[in-house]
Amino acid sequence: MEKTTKNLKAFNTFAIDCTAEAYFEFTSKEQLPQTAQIYAQYPKTHILGGGSNTVFLNNRISGAVIRICNKGIETLEENDRNVIVRVAAGESWEGFVRWACKRGYCGIENLAAIPGTVGAAPVQNIGAYGAQAEDSIAWVESFDMARQKFIQTKKEDCRFGYRNSRWKSENKQELIHSVVFSLNKNFVPNTDYKALREYMERNPEKNPTPERICEIVTEIRNSKLPDPKILGNAGSFFKNPTVDKDEYERLKSKFKDLVAFEEQNGYKLSAAWLIESCGLKGKRFGNVGMHEKQALVMVNYGGATGKQIADFALRVRQTVKDRFDVDLQTEAHMVE
Ligand code: EPU
Repeated sequence: MEKTTKNLKAFNTFAIDCTAEAYFEFTSKEQLPQTAQIYAQYPKTHILGGGSNTVFLNNRISGAVIRICNKGIETLEENDRNVIVRVAAGESWEGFVRWACKRGYCGIENLAAIPGTVGAAPVQNIGAYGAQAEDSIAWVESFDMARQKFIQTKKEDCRFGYRNSRWKSENKQELIHSVVFSLNKNFVPNTDYKALREYMERNPEKNPTPERICEIVTEIRNSKLPDPKILGNAGSFFKNPTVDKDEYERLKSKFKDLVAFEEQNGYKLSAAWLIESCGLKGKRFGNVGMHEKQALVMVNYGGATGKQIADFALRVRQTVKDRFDVDLQTEAHMVE
């Protein structure tokens, strides 16, 4: 493959200026053998979706970048109760959610307006407003570039967890080309998540449709999350840390207003609250800062380099560690 000077700024929502050693756009399954060649030639091959969860740390990325651009939504099966659809990995997630809601297919309406591609949804098991991608995924279709083999991974084998899956930190040689969803045709709104519940209480609606929930979630998100087209960002920069009961009680006795949610195996702490309590919400250091309306979101005020973002992330982690003795893990994927 040719060397490249293609600037990747438009392909990452943090809007970091950088190039890779090689760049390739994947548009159809026929190109999969070619991706295997790239993978063999460049041991560091990074698969890029919408670039909405990626931080390029250097202005010259070592290795190749394969950007997933294939398109298509295909109905595989349908009955009175549900519908099985195969969606190309390069489709926009937001567009797919709207496509489904318009047809009355439900299960993903709470995941409206999340930037990025369909192929990235299973990788970090995107989640918001009380729903996660795993709730609606039936199986994932990928191509193992090392073994040159097609693979189908059933939902049970995807190892889904909170912002986690079998592809999050391992199996990077598997290129996801399609995701198959099982969507419901009988709509039962899921409005348990606090922000959504409060909205519905303030604006009661008799029989909201999936399309209406999609609009409401979009409105709530837009009210607190920065638009990457205006202010570069990668959504939540850190994960909400999970701690055990003892650790939770230690923190709660010391910090009475700690925000935490009970989970199956412990407590999930609100990373946004931890960051805000350190006085970092809305704080700006040079070209980067934590957003003024959502402390969990780091923003690029313009011209920030990957290194500045990484340094600032370290500073936030250290400040939280010093105050609470809690380790924040980054959610965003760092690429060197
Ligand atoms: N909070 C603060 N300060 C803030 C923001 C929030 O103290 O600046 C507290 C509030 O008490 C609030 C609670 O944290 O009630 C939870 O806040 P929010 O509903 O915004 O959720 P989050 O846990 O901060 C997660 C996801 C978001 C997703 C929202 C809504 C992660 C890492 N992030 O954020 O996902 O939109 O829930 O469901 O789990 C993303 O992944 O890029 C993303 C934006």
